[in-house]
Amino acid sequence: MTTGRFTIETLGVPERPSPLERADQAQFFVDDAERILYDPHLKAAMRDCQSGAVPAGFELAGPRRWIYFNPPRTRAAIVTCGGLCPGINAVIRSVVQQLWYRYNCRDILGIRYGYGGLAEDAEPPIALDPEAVNDIHMKGGTILGTSRGSPPASEIVDSLVRHHIDVLFPIGGDGTMRGASAIWEEIKRRGLKIAVVSIPKTIDNDIPFVRRAFGFETAVEVATQAVHSGYTEATGAPYGIGLVKLMGRNAGYITATTCLAAGQANLCLIPEVPFGLEGPDGLFKLVEDRIALQRSVVIVVAEGAGQYFFATTTRGTDASGNPKLGDIGRFLKERINAYFAAKQMSVTLKYIDPSYLIRSAPANSTDQLYCARLAQNAVHAAMAGKSGLLIGYWHGQMTYVPTHALAGRKQAINPRGELWFNVLEATGQPAQIGEAPTS
Ligand code: F6P
Repeated sequence: MTTGRFTIETLGVPERPSPLERADQAQFFVDDAERILYDPHLKAAMRDCQSGAVPAGFELAGPRRWIYFNPPRTRAAIVTCGGLCPGINAVIRSVVQQLWYRYNCRDILGIRYGYGGLAEDAEPPIALDPEAVNDIHMKGGTILGTSRGSPPASEIVDSLVRHHIDVLFPIGGDGTMRGASAIWEEIKRRGLKIAVVSIPKTIDNDIPFVRRAFGFETAVEVATQAVHSGYTEATGAPYGIGLVKLMGRNAGYITATTCLAAGQANLCLIPEVPFGLEGPDGLFKLVEDRIALQRSVVIVVAEGAGQYFFATTTRGTDASGNPKLGDIGRFLKERINAYFAAKQMSVTLKYIDPSYLIRSAPANSTDQLYCARLAQNAVHAAMAGKSGLLIGYWHGQMTYVPTHALAGRKQAINPRGELWFNVLEATGQPAQIGEAPTS
């Protein structure tokens, strides 16, 4: 059975029995035809079935009875790209352990500093084995190093060939996935048999078809401490304002979830929901009203919120192609202080920007479990000869998603969805805050 845009490509027919068979684990084998519905609503599935269509769905992740590679003769490589995120080391460790213990694959390389480590003149990769990765999951960051940007796909594929790499595991965000897709296209163009299986990583949680990115919960935990501090500062001063800025370029998941977890935010500002400063419904008036009501106010803002307050032409992009952002935290701090100064009202605003603190922590225990499952399923996919895919997480299930399906898509908070509704309930803020500037 195929389901069109979510069909997973393979290097060839897997003809070797999986070593899991001998380990008496056959009951865990997953058939390629097992699917997780894209749209879980019964109505949608019935509509498709009535019109003779097969409802769209993702291939269920897991071990396959037949594998493509001969593990003792297979060389695998792991590369970590983009910004840091809690749990990268946990994923590296589990990929190595899974390859080594479950599949008897003993030839594992770690590529240094992102896709740049696959450039022509790059530093050589390092050998990885269970001893080398034994306790790395307890540390933040990545033992391999990371970077943004990438050499051309053709140069990377030259390097994969030069290093005799059969399987590549890129760990990274949307830029890394675009890179992985281009690498896979180049591999196919050359008729090579190299699998590319990606593990999505971003604390912004903005990768489509991945409901929860690893490290996200840890980042929220750390960010929650920052909001607690903002609250403590705000309530410790007469007419106190705690202003906290959190990461989240295009998606406000960290900010929204942290507001819910902390339970102390009165105003939550995210990129997906525009807001204005002035007027009877604007941010300034809301802040003033809250102070009048409860003597203090806590505002939590995502770094990508309110970018329309800045001229965009001069800042350029980072090496991953992301537009550089205006500093909404400092902007709000100055403007809120100016508003109250003009009214001759004395307020005490404390600004907290935990910045990289929230993503450099080691993974907490729920993220550790999640990292291990992502890594294990990535290895199952690669050994079965599947390629050009990432590990998805959909309706509580691990899935295989073709990397090309991400093209042109972003995951973001739906302002009419449940998460944002919960935020409005928890903060008590109105659905619309003023009028955002139009140009
Ligand atoms: O993509 C994740 C992220 O942490 C964003 O939240 C943040 O804007 C960005 O990376 C920071 O990137 P850099 O590491 O390049 O400063």
